[in-house]
Amino acid sequence: MKIMVVGGGGREHAIIKKLKENKNIDKIYALPGNGGIACDAECVNIGACELDKIVAFAKENSIDFAIVAPDDPLVLGLVDRLEEAGISCFGPRKNAAIIEGSKVYSKGLMKKYGIPTAEYQVFDDPKAALEYLKTAPIPTVIKADGLALGKGVIIAFSKEEAINAVNEIMTDKKFGKSGDKIVVEEYLEGPEVSVLAFTDGKTVKPMVSSMDHKRIGDGDTGLNTGGMGTVAPNPFYTEDIAKICMDTIFLPTVKAMNTEGRTFKGCLYFGLMLTKDGPKVIEYNCRFGDPETQVVLPLLESDLFTVMKAVADEKLAETPVKFKDGTACCVIMASNGYPLSYGKGFEISIPDSIKDSVYVAGAKTENGKLLTNGGRVLGVTATEDNLEAAIRSAYKKVTQIHFENAYFRKDIGAKALREEQKNHGI
Ligand code: AMP
Ligand code: GLY
Repeated sequence: MKIMVVGGGGREHAIIKKLKENKNIDKIYALPGNGGIACDAECVNIGACELDKIVAFAKENSIDFAIVAPDDPLVLGLVDRLEEAGISCFGPRKNAAIIEGSKVYSKGLMKKYGIPTAEYQVFDDPKAALEYLKTAPIPTVIKADGLALGKGVIIAFSKEEAINAVNEIMTDKKFGKSGDKIVVEEYLEGPEVSVLAFTDGKTVKPMVSSMDHKRIGDGDTGLNTGGMGTVAPNPFYTEDIAKICMDTIFLPTVKAMNTEGRTFKGCLYFGLMLTKDGPKVIEYNCRFGDPETQVVLPLLESDLFTVMKAVADEKLAETPVKFKDGTACCVIMASNGYPLSYGKGFEISIPDSIKDSVYVAGAKTENGKLLTNGGRVLGVTATEDNLEAAIRSAYKKVTQIHFENAYFRKDIGAKALREEQKNHGI
């Protein structure tokens, strides 16, 4: 069997490593993959948004199953194109990927179906947005409607910051057409939880919960990033909360998408805030999270390909999705200066003994050497019986990996550990 994974980051590397556990898979292609993924799959130099080339490649190479991992090609309709060419896919079609592709759409969906989320207003005119901000409560949250490389959310702690955000997004068009409309939303407080769920549009099977660490600095300080580390499970996400989320958020969302004629099949990501009024949705993503995938999939006991195929064939109800009991921690090693400017081209050394748990995000191979080639360079995951051991083991691996200019947070999992110790009365 030949599989094609579209994308080229740490998330895709984690998906590919997990797929390799299935012995019926003879060949995995990564489009475009990266220098680290090249050890586990054949990388093909086609970008994730080059839809025509991807479809042609899939046909020429008789691909049996395609996994489209990143948001952009999903929102552009790559799954529709591949399915039209007769290729079975894991990932939502374009009309369902809109749940991430347009925040105006997803907020409207939640409002219409009573799914708990922050109060909000939509603006397509900067003047009206600025007028509204004169009396809006501060802090406030400004979100570009469309995809913005994960940078389209600004939490404004002063009126001035809010005004600047509106001007940058709507007038200066910092994110292009993604900023034609904005959502101005109520600021929510509480612990954040990421829940990725498999769904075939009929059944929802949530994966183990996780916690991302989005800020660049220790103690959740500094600029927002694509994610500096993760732990799973998330100790704030208790069984009681999981039940509430299933009843008030997960099932209602999947049903709502069906009612709207936009059946969602794939991995639906729920970004949740556990507020004092209950869990609320802060964002939907139409895909696996990055770096959540790097802690969630190592804990998956079931065969990933079998589950993905069941999603595509709408047979998820009868397919077991089991997770191991342990805990996972992933620490991202980035280039110093990220998320602003940083150097590239430094040689990376990873001992063979830990290669299996390293997920490469931004690296290329040149003359047989692995060189840094992005802001987030790689993630290293440890799975252990308990969180404290997983954190210790992940950081031990970090000390074994070397490249010039490496930066990583020192406190991945610390907040989760405090919560866990509190729950156990320690
Ligand atoms: P996103 O790009 O949608 O993942 O949002 C980035 C981060 O902004 C989230 O992980 C939250 O920490 C924060 N955020 C988004 N919406 C809100 C909100 N309504 N209230 C408080 N924080 C938010
Ligand atoms: N870790 C957040 C995301 O994948 O959007």
